[in-house]
Amino acid sequence: MTQGRSFYITTPIYYPSDVPHIGHGYTTVAVDTLARWHRQAGDDTWMLTGTDEHGQKMLRAASANGVTPQEWVDKLVTEAWFPLLRTLDVANDDFIRTTQPRHEERVKQFVQAIYDRGYIYAGEYEALYCVGCEEFKPESEIVDGTGAFEGLKVCAIHSKPLELLQEKNYFFKLSEFQDKLIELYSSVPDFIRPDSARNEVVSFVKNGLKDLSISRSAFDWGITVPWDESHVIYVWVDALLNYATAVGYGADPDEFARRWPAFHIVGKDILRFHAVIWPAMLMAAGLEVPRGVFAHGWLLVGGEKMSKSKLTGIAPTEITDVFGSDAYRFYFLSAIAFGQDGSFSWEDLSARYQAELANGFGNLASRTTAMIERYFEGIVPPPAEYTERDLAVQKIVKDAAANADAAIERFRIDEAISAIWTIVDDLNLYITENEPWALAKDDAQRARLGTVLYTAAEGLRALAVLLSPVMPVATEKLWVALGVSGRLVDQPLRDAGGWGVLQPGSSVNGLAPLFPRVEQSV
Ligand code: ME8
Ligand code: MG
Repeated sequence: MTQGRSFYITTPIYYPSDVPHIGHGYTTVAVDTLARWHRQAGDDTWMLTGTDEHGQKMLRAASANGVTPQEWVDKLVTEAWFPLLRTLDVANDDFIRTTQPRHEERVKQFVQAIYDRGYIYAGEYEALYCVGCEEFKPESEIVDGTGAFEGLKVCAIHSKPLELLQEKNYFFKLSEFQDKLIELYSSVPDFIRPDSARNEVVSFVKNGLKDLSISRSAFDWGITVPWDESHVIYVWVDALLNYATAVGYGADPDEFARRWPAFHIVGKDILRFHAVIWPAMLMAAGLEVPRGVFAHGWLLVGGEKMSKSKLTGIAPTEITDVFGSDAYRFYFLSAIAFGQDGSFSWEDLSARYQAELANGFGNLASRTTAMIERYFEGIVPPPAEYTERDLAVQKIVKDAAANADAAIERFRIDEAISAIWTIVDDLNLYITENEPWALAKDDAQRARLGTVLYTAAEGLRALAVLLSPVMPVATEKLWVALGVSGRLVDQPLRDAGGWGVLQPGSSVNGLAPLFPRVEQSV
């Protein structure tokens, strides 16, 4: 495969103060699916994920557990965050931890560089801080507490009391970038997606930007400010820089030039950091801004953002242990419009698993391969003359592949899956209409039977390729069962909609149900 255009995509780096929940899994499988798609399409792809290990939140989690922050993050990262990637079949190219020397050294270089360029000054600060967000909160996100927090000011996201912090800090001249950011948002309309996210950021920036406090001196769990050892760098500045340090900023100019700039996929809770502060930091350093920021919505449980701090967190393994990783990936990526909130429920997951995966895709795969085994001794029959109906299947496959690729370009994984699903639905209908079991009873219809089963099998071949970024496990099993030559991951994705790839004469093997019936009591 020749090396195509660069496609560098990132997840947020998560706080390993606690174990992952299905919200973290959601972002991660979305990014993995986009990366797998581009990789298989021949783009020069790089997927980064990782953990954000400094700051007060981590310090407090560690001390609550009676260990040092380094011990805490080492334990959580090894026991919970690395395993998450295996649980969800994520094929990331790198994993960055902000406590790694490669990161710490390059962060210092960056901060020193913008200091030297005159964008940092020392000042006094007093404001309300949310440790959950690791952020000084703007007026609009401060609300009155209720219940145990009656009479206190709390964070609108975490519903926990804010803390008044007063410090001598170093500040980044964020206010100087207001016009340049507005100019960026209008000259690159896709810089922030979806539109709702873009509108929110544009109006926030138009309201005026304050300079940003970028250091802390009250604790030392962080990266030391290079010109003042009594301060550590604010955890968000440290964290955002991971996207640059991981691809060689300050250390490997060739690698950095090859990868940068990135696409960032984030939850809408952290949109402003990515769409305002981060591009301004890059502008201050004279570096290219990201290619784009896509903010997806929240998984809601009982109408509220699911979170560990509110004890509504669900572990990804609760789902994968019952339904498997493919179903996890398929469910979240197809059932929720990417960019909007979505309510999670076991009933919905279970119903979609049964209808779409077991009865839809799974059944199509089993009955097609079973009929080739039964009627043609497992040898793919050659197609004879194609009818209008057969040609209609070919057109649906072709259009689905093109529409899915276009949807992926817009980061709309949900729309890509629904485009691909037109193949599943049409092939199931096609089989019902053509009744191969009836054709099989009539020797005169032997050639027609061959055409029908070839059409179904070739459609499945296209489905295996198109769905492989979403469901790598099931599609691999299907691929092997279809007996197509070559590896699934080597099939060029943008050619998946072509016809006649599956060779008549190749042998089809038995296929266990791709999505077996699940026994569960929820
Ligand atoms: O914010 N629904 O880390 P974090 C959907 N370390 N996605 C959710 C979610 C939910 N209910 N809950 C969490 C941080 N997420 C910083 C990021 S990046 C330089 C630093 C996902 O552990 C979503 O992607 O709080 C959200 O943006 C992210 O987890 C926040 O993870
Ligand atoms: Mg959070």
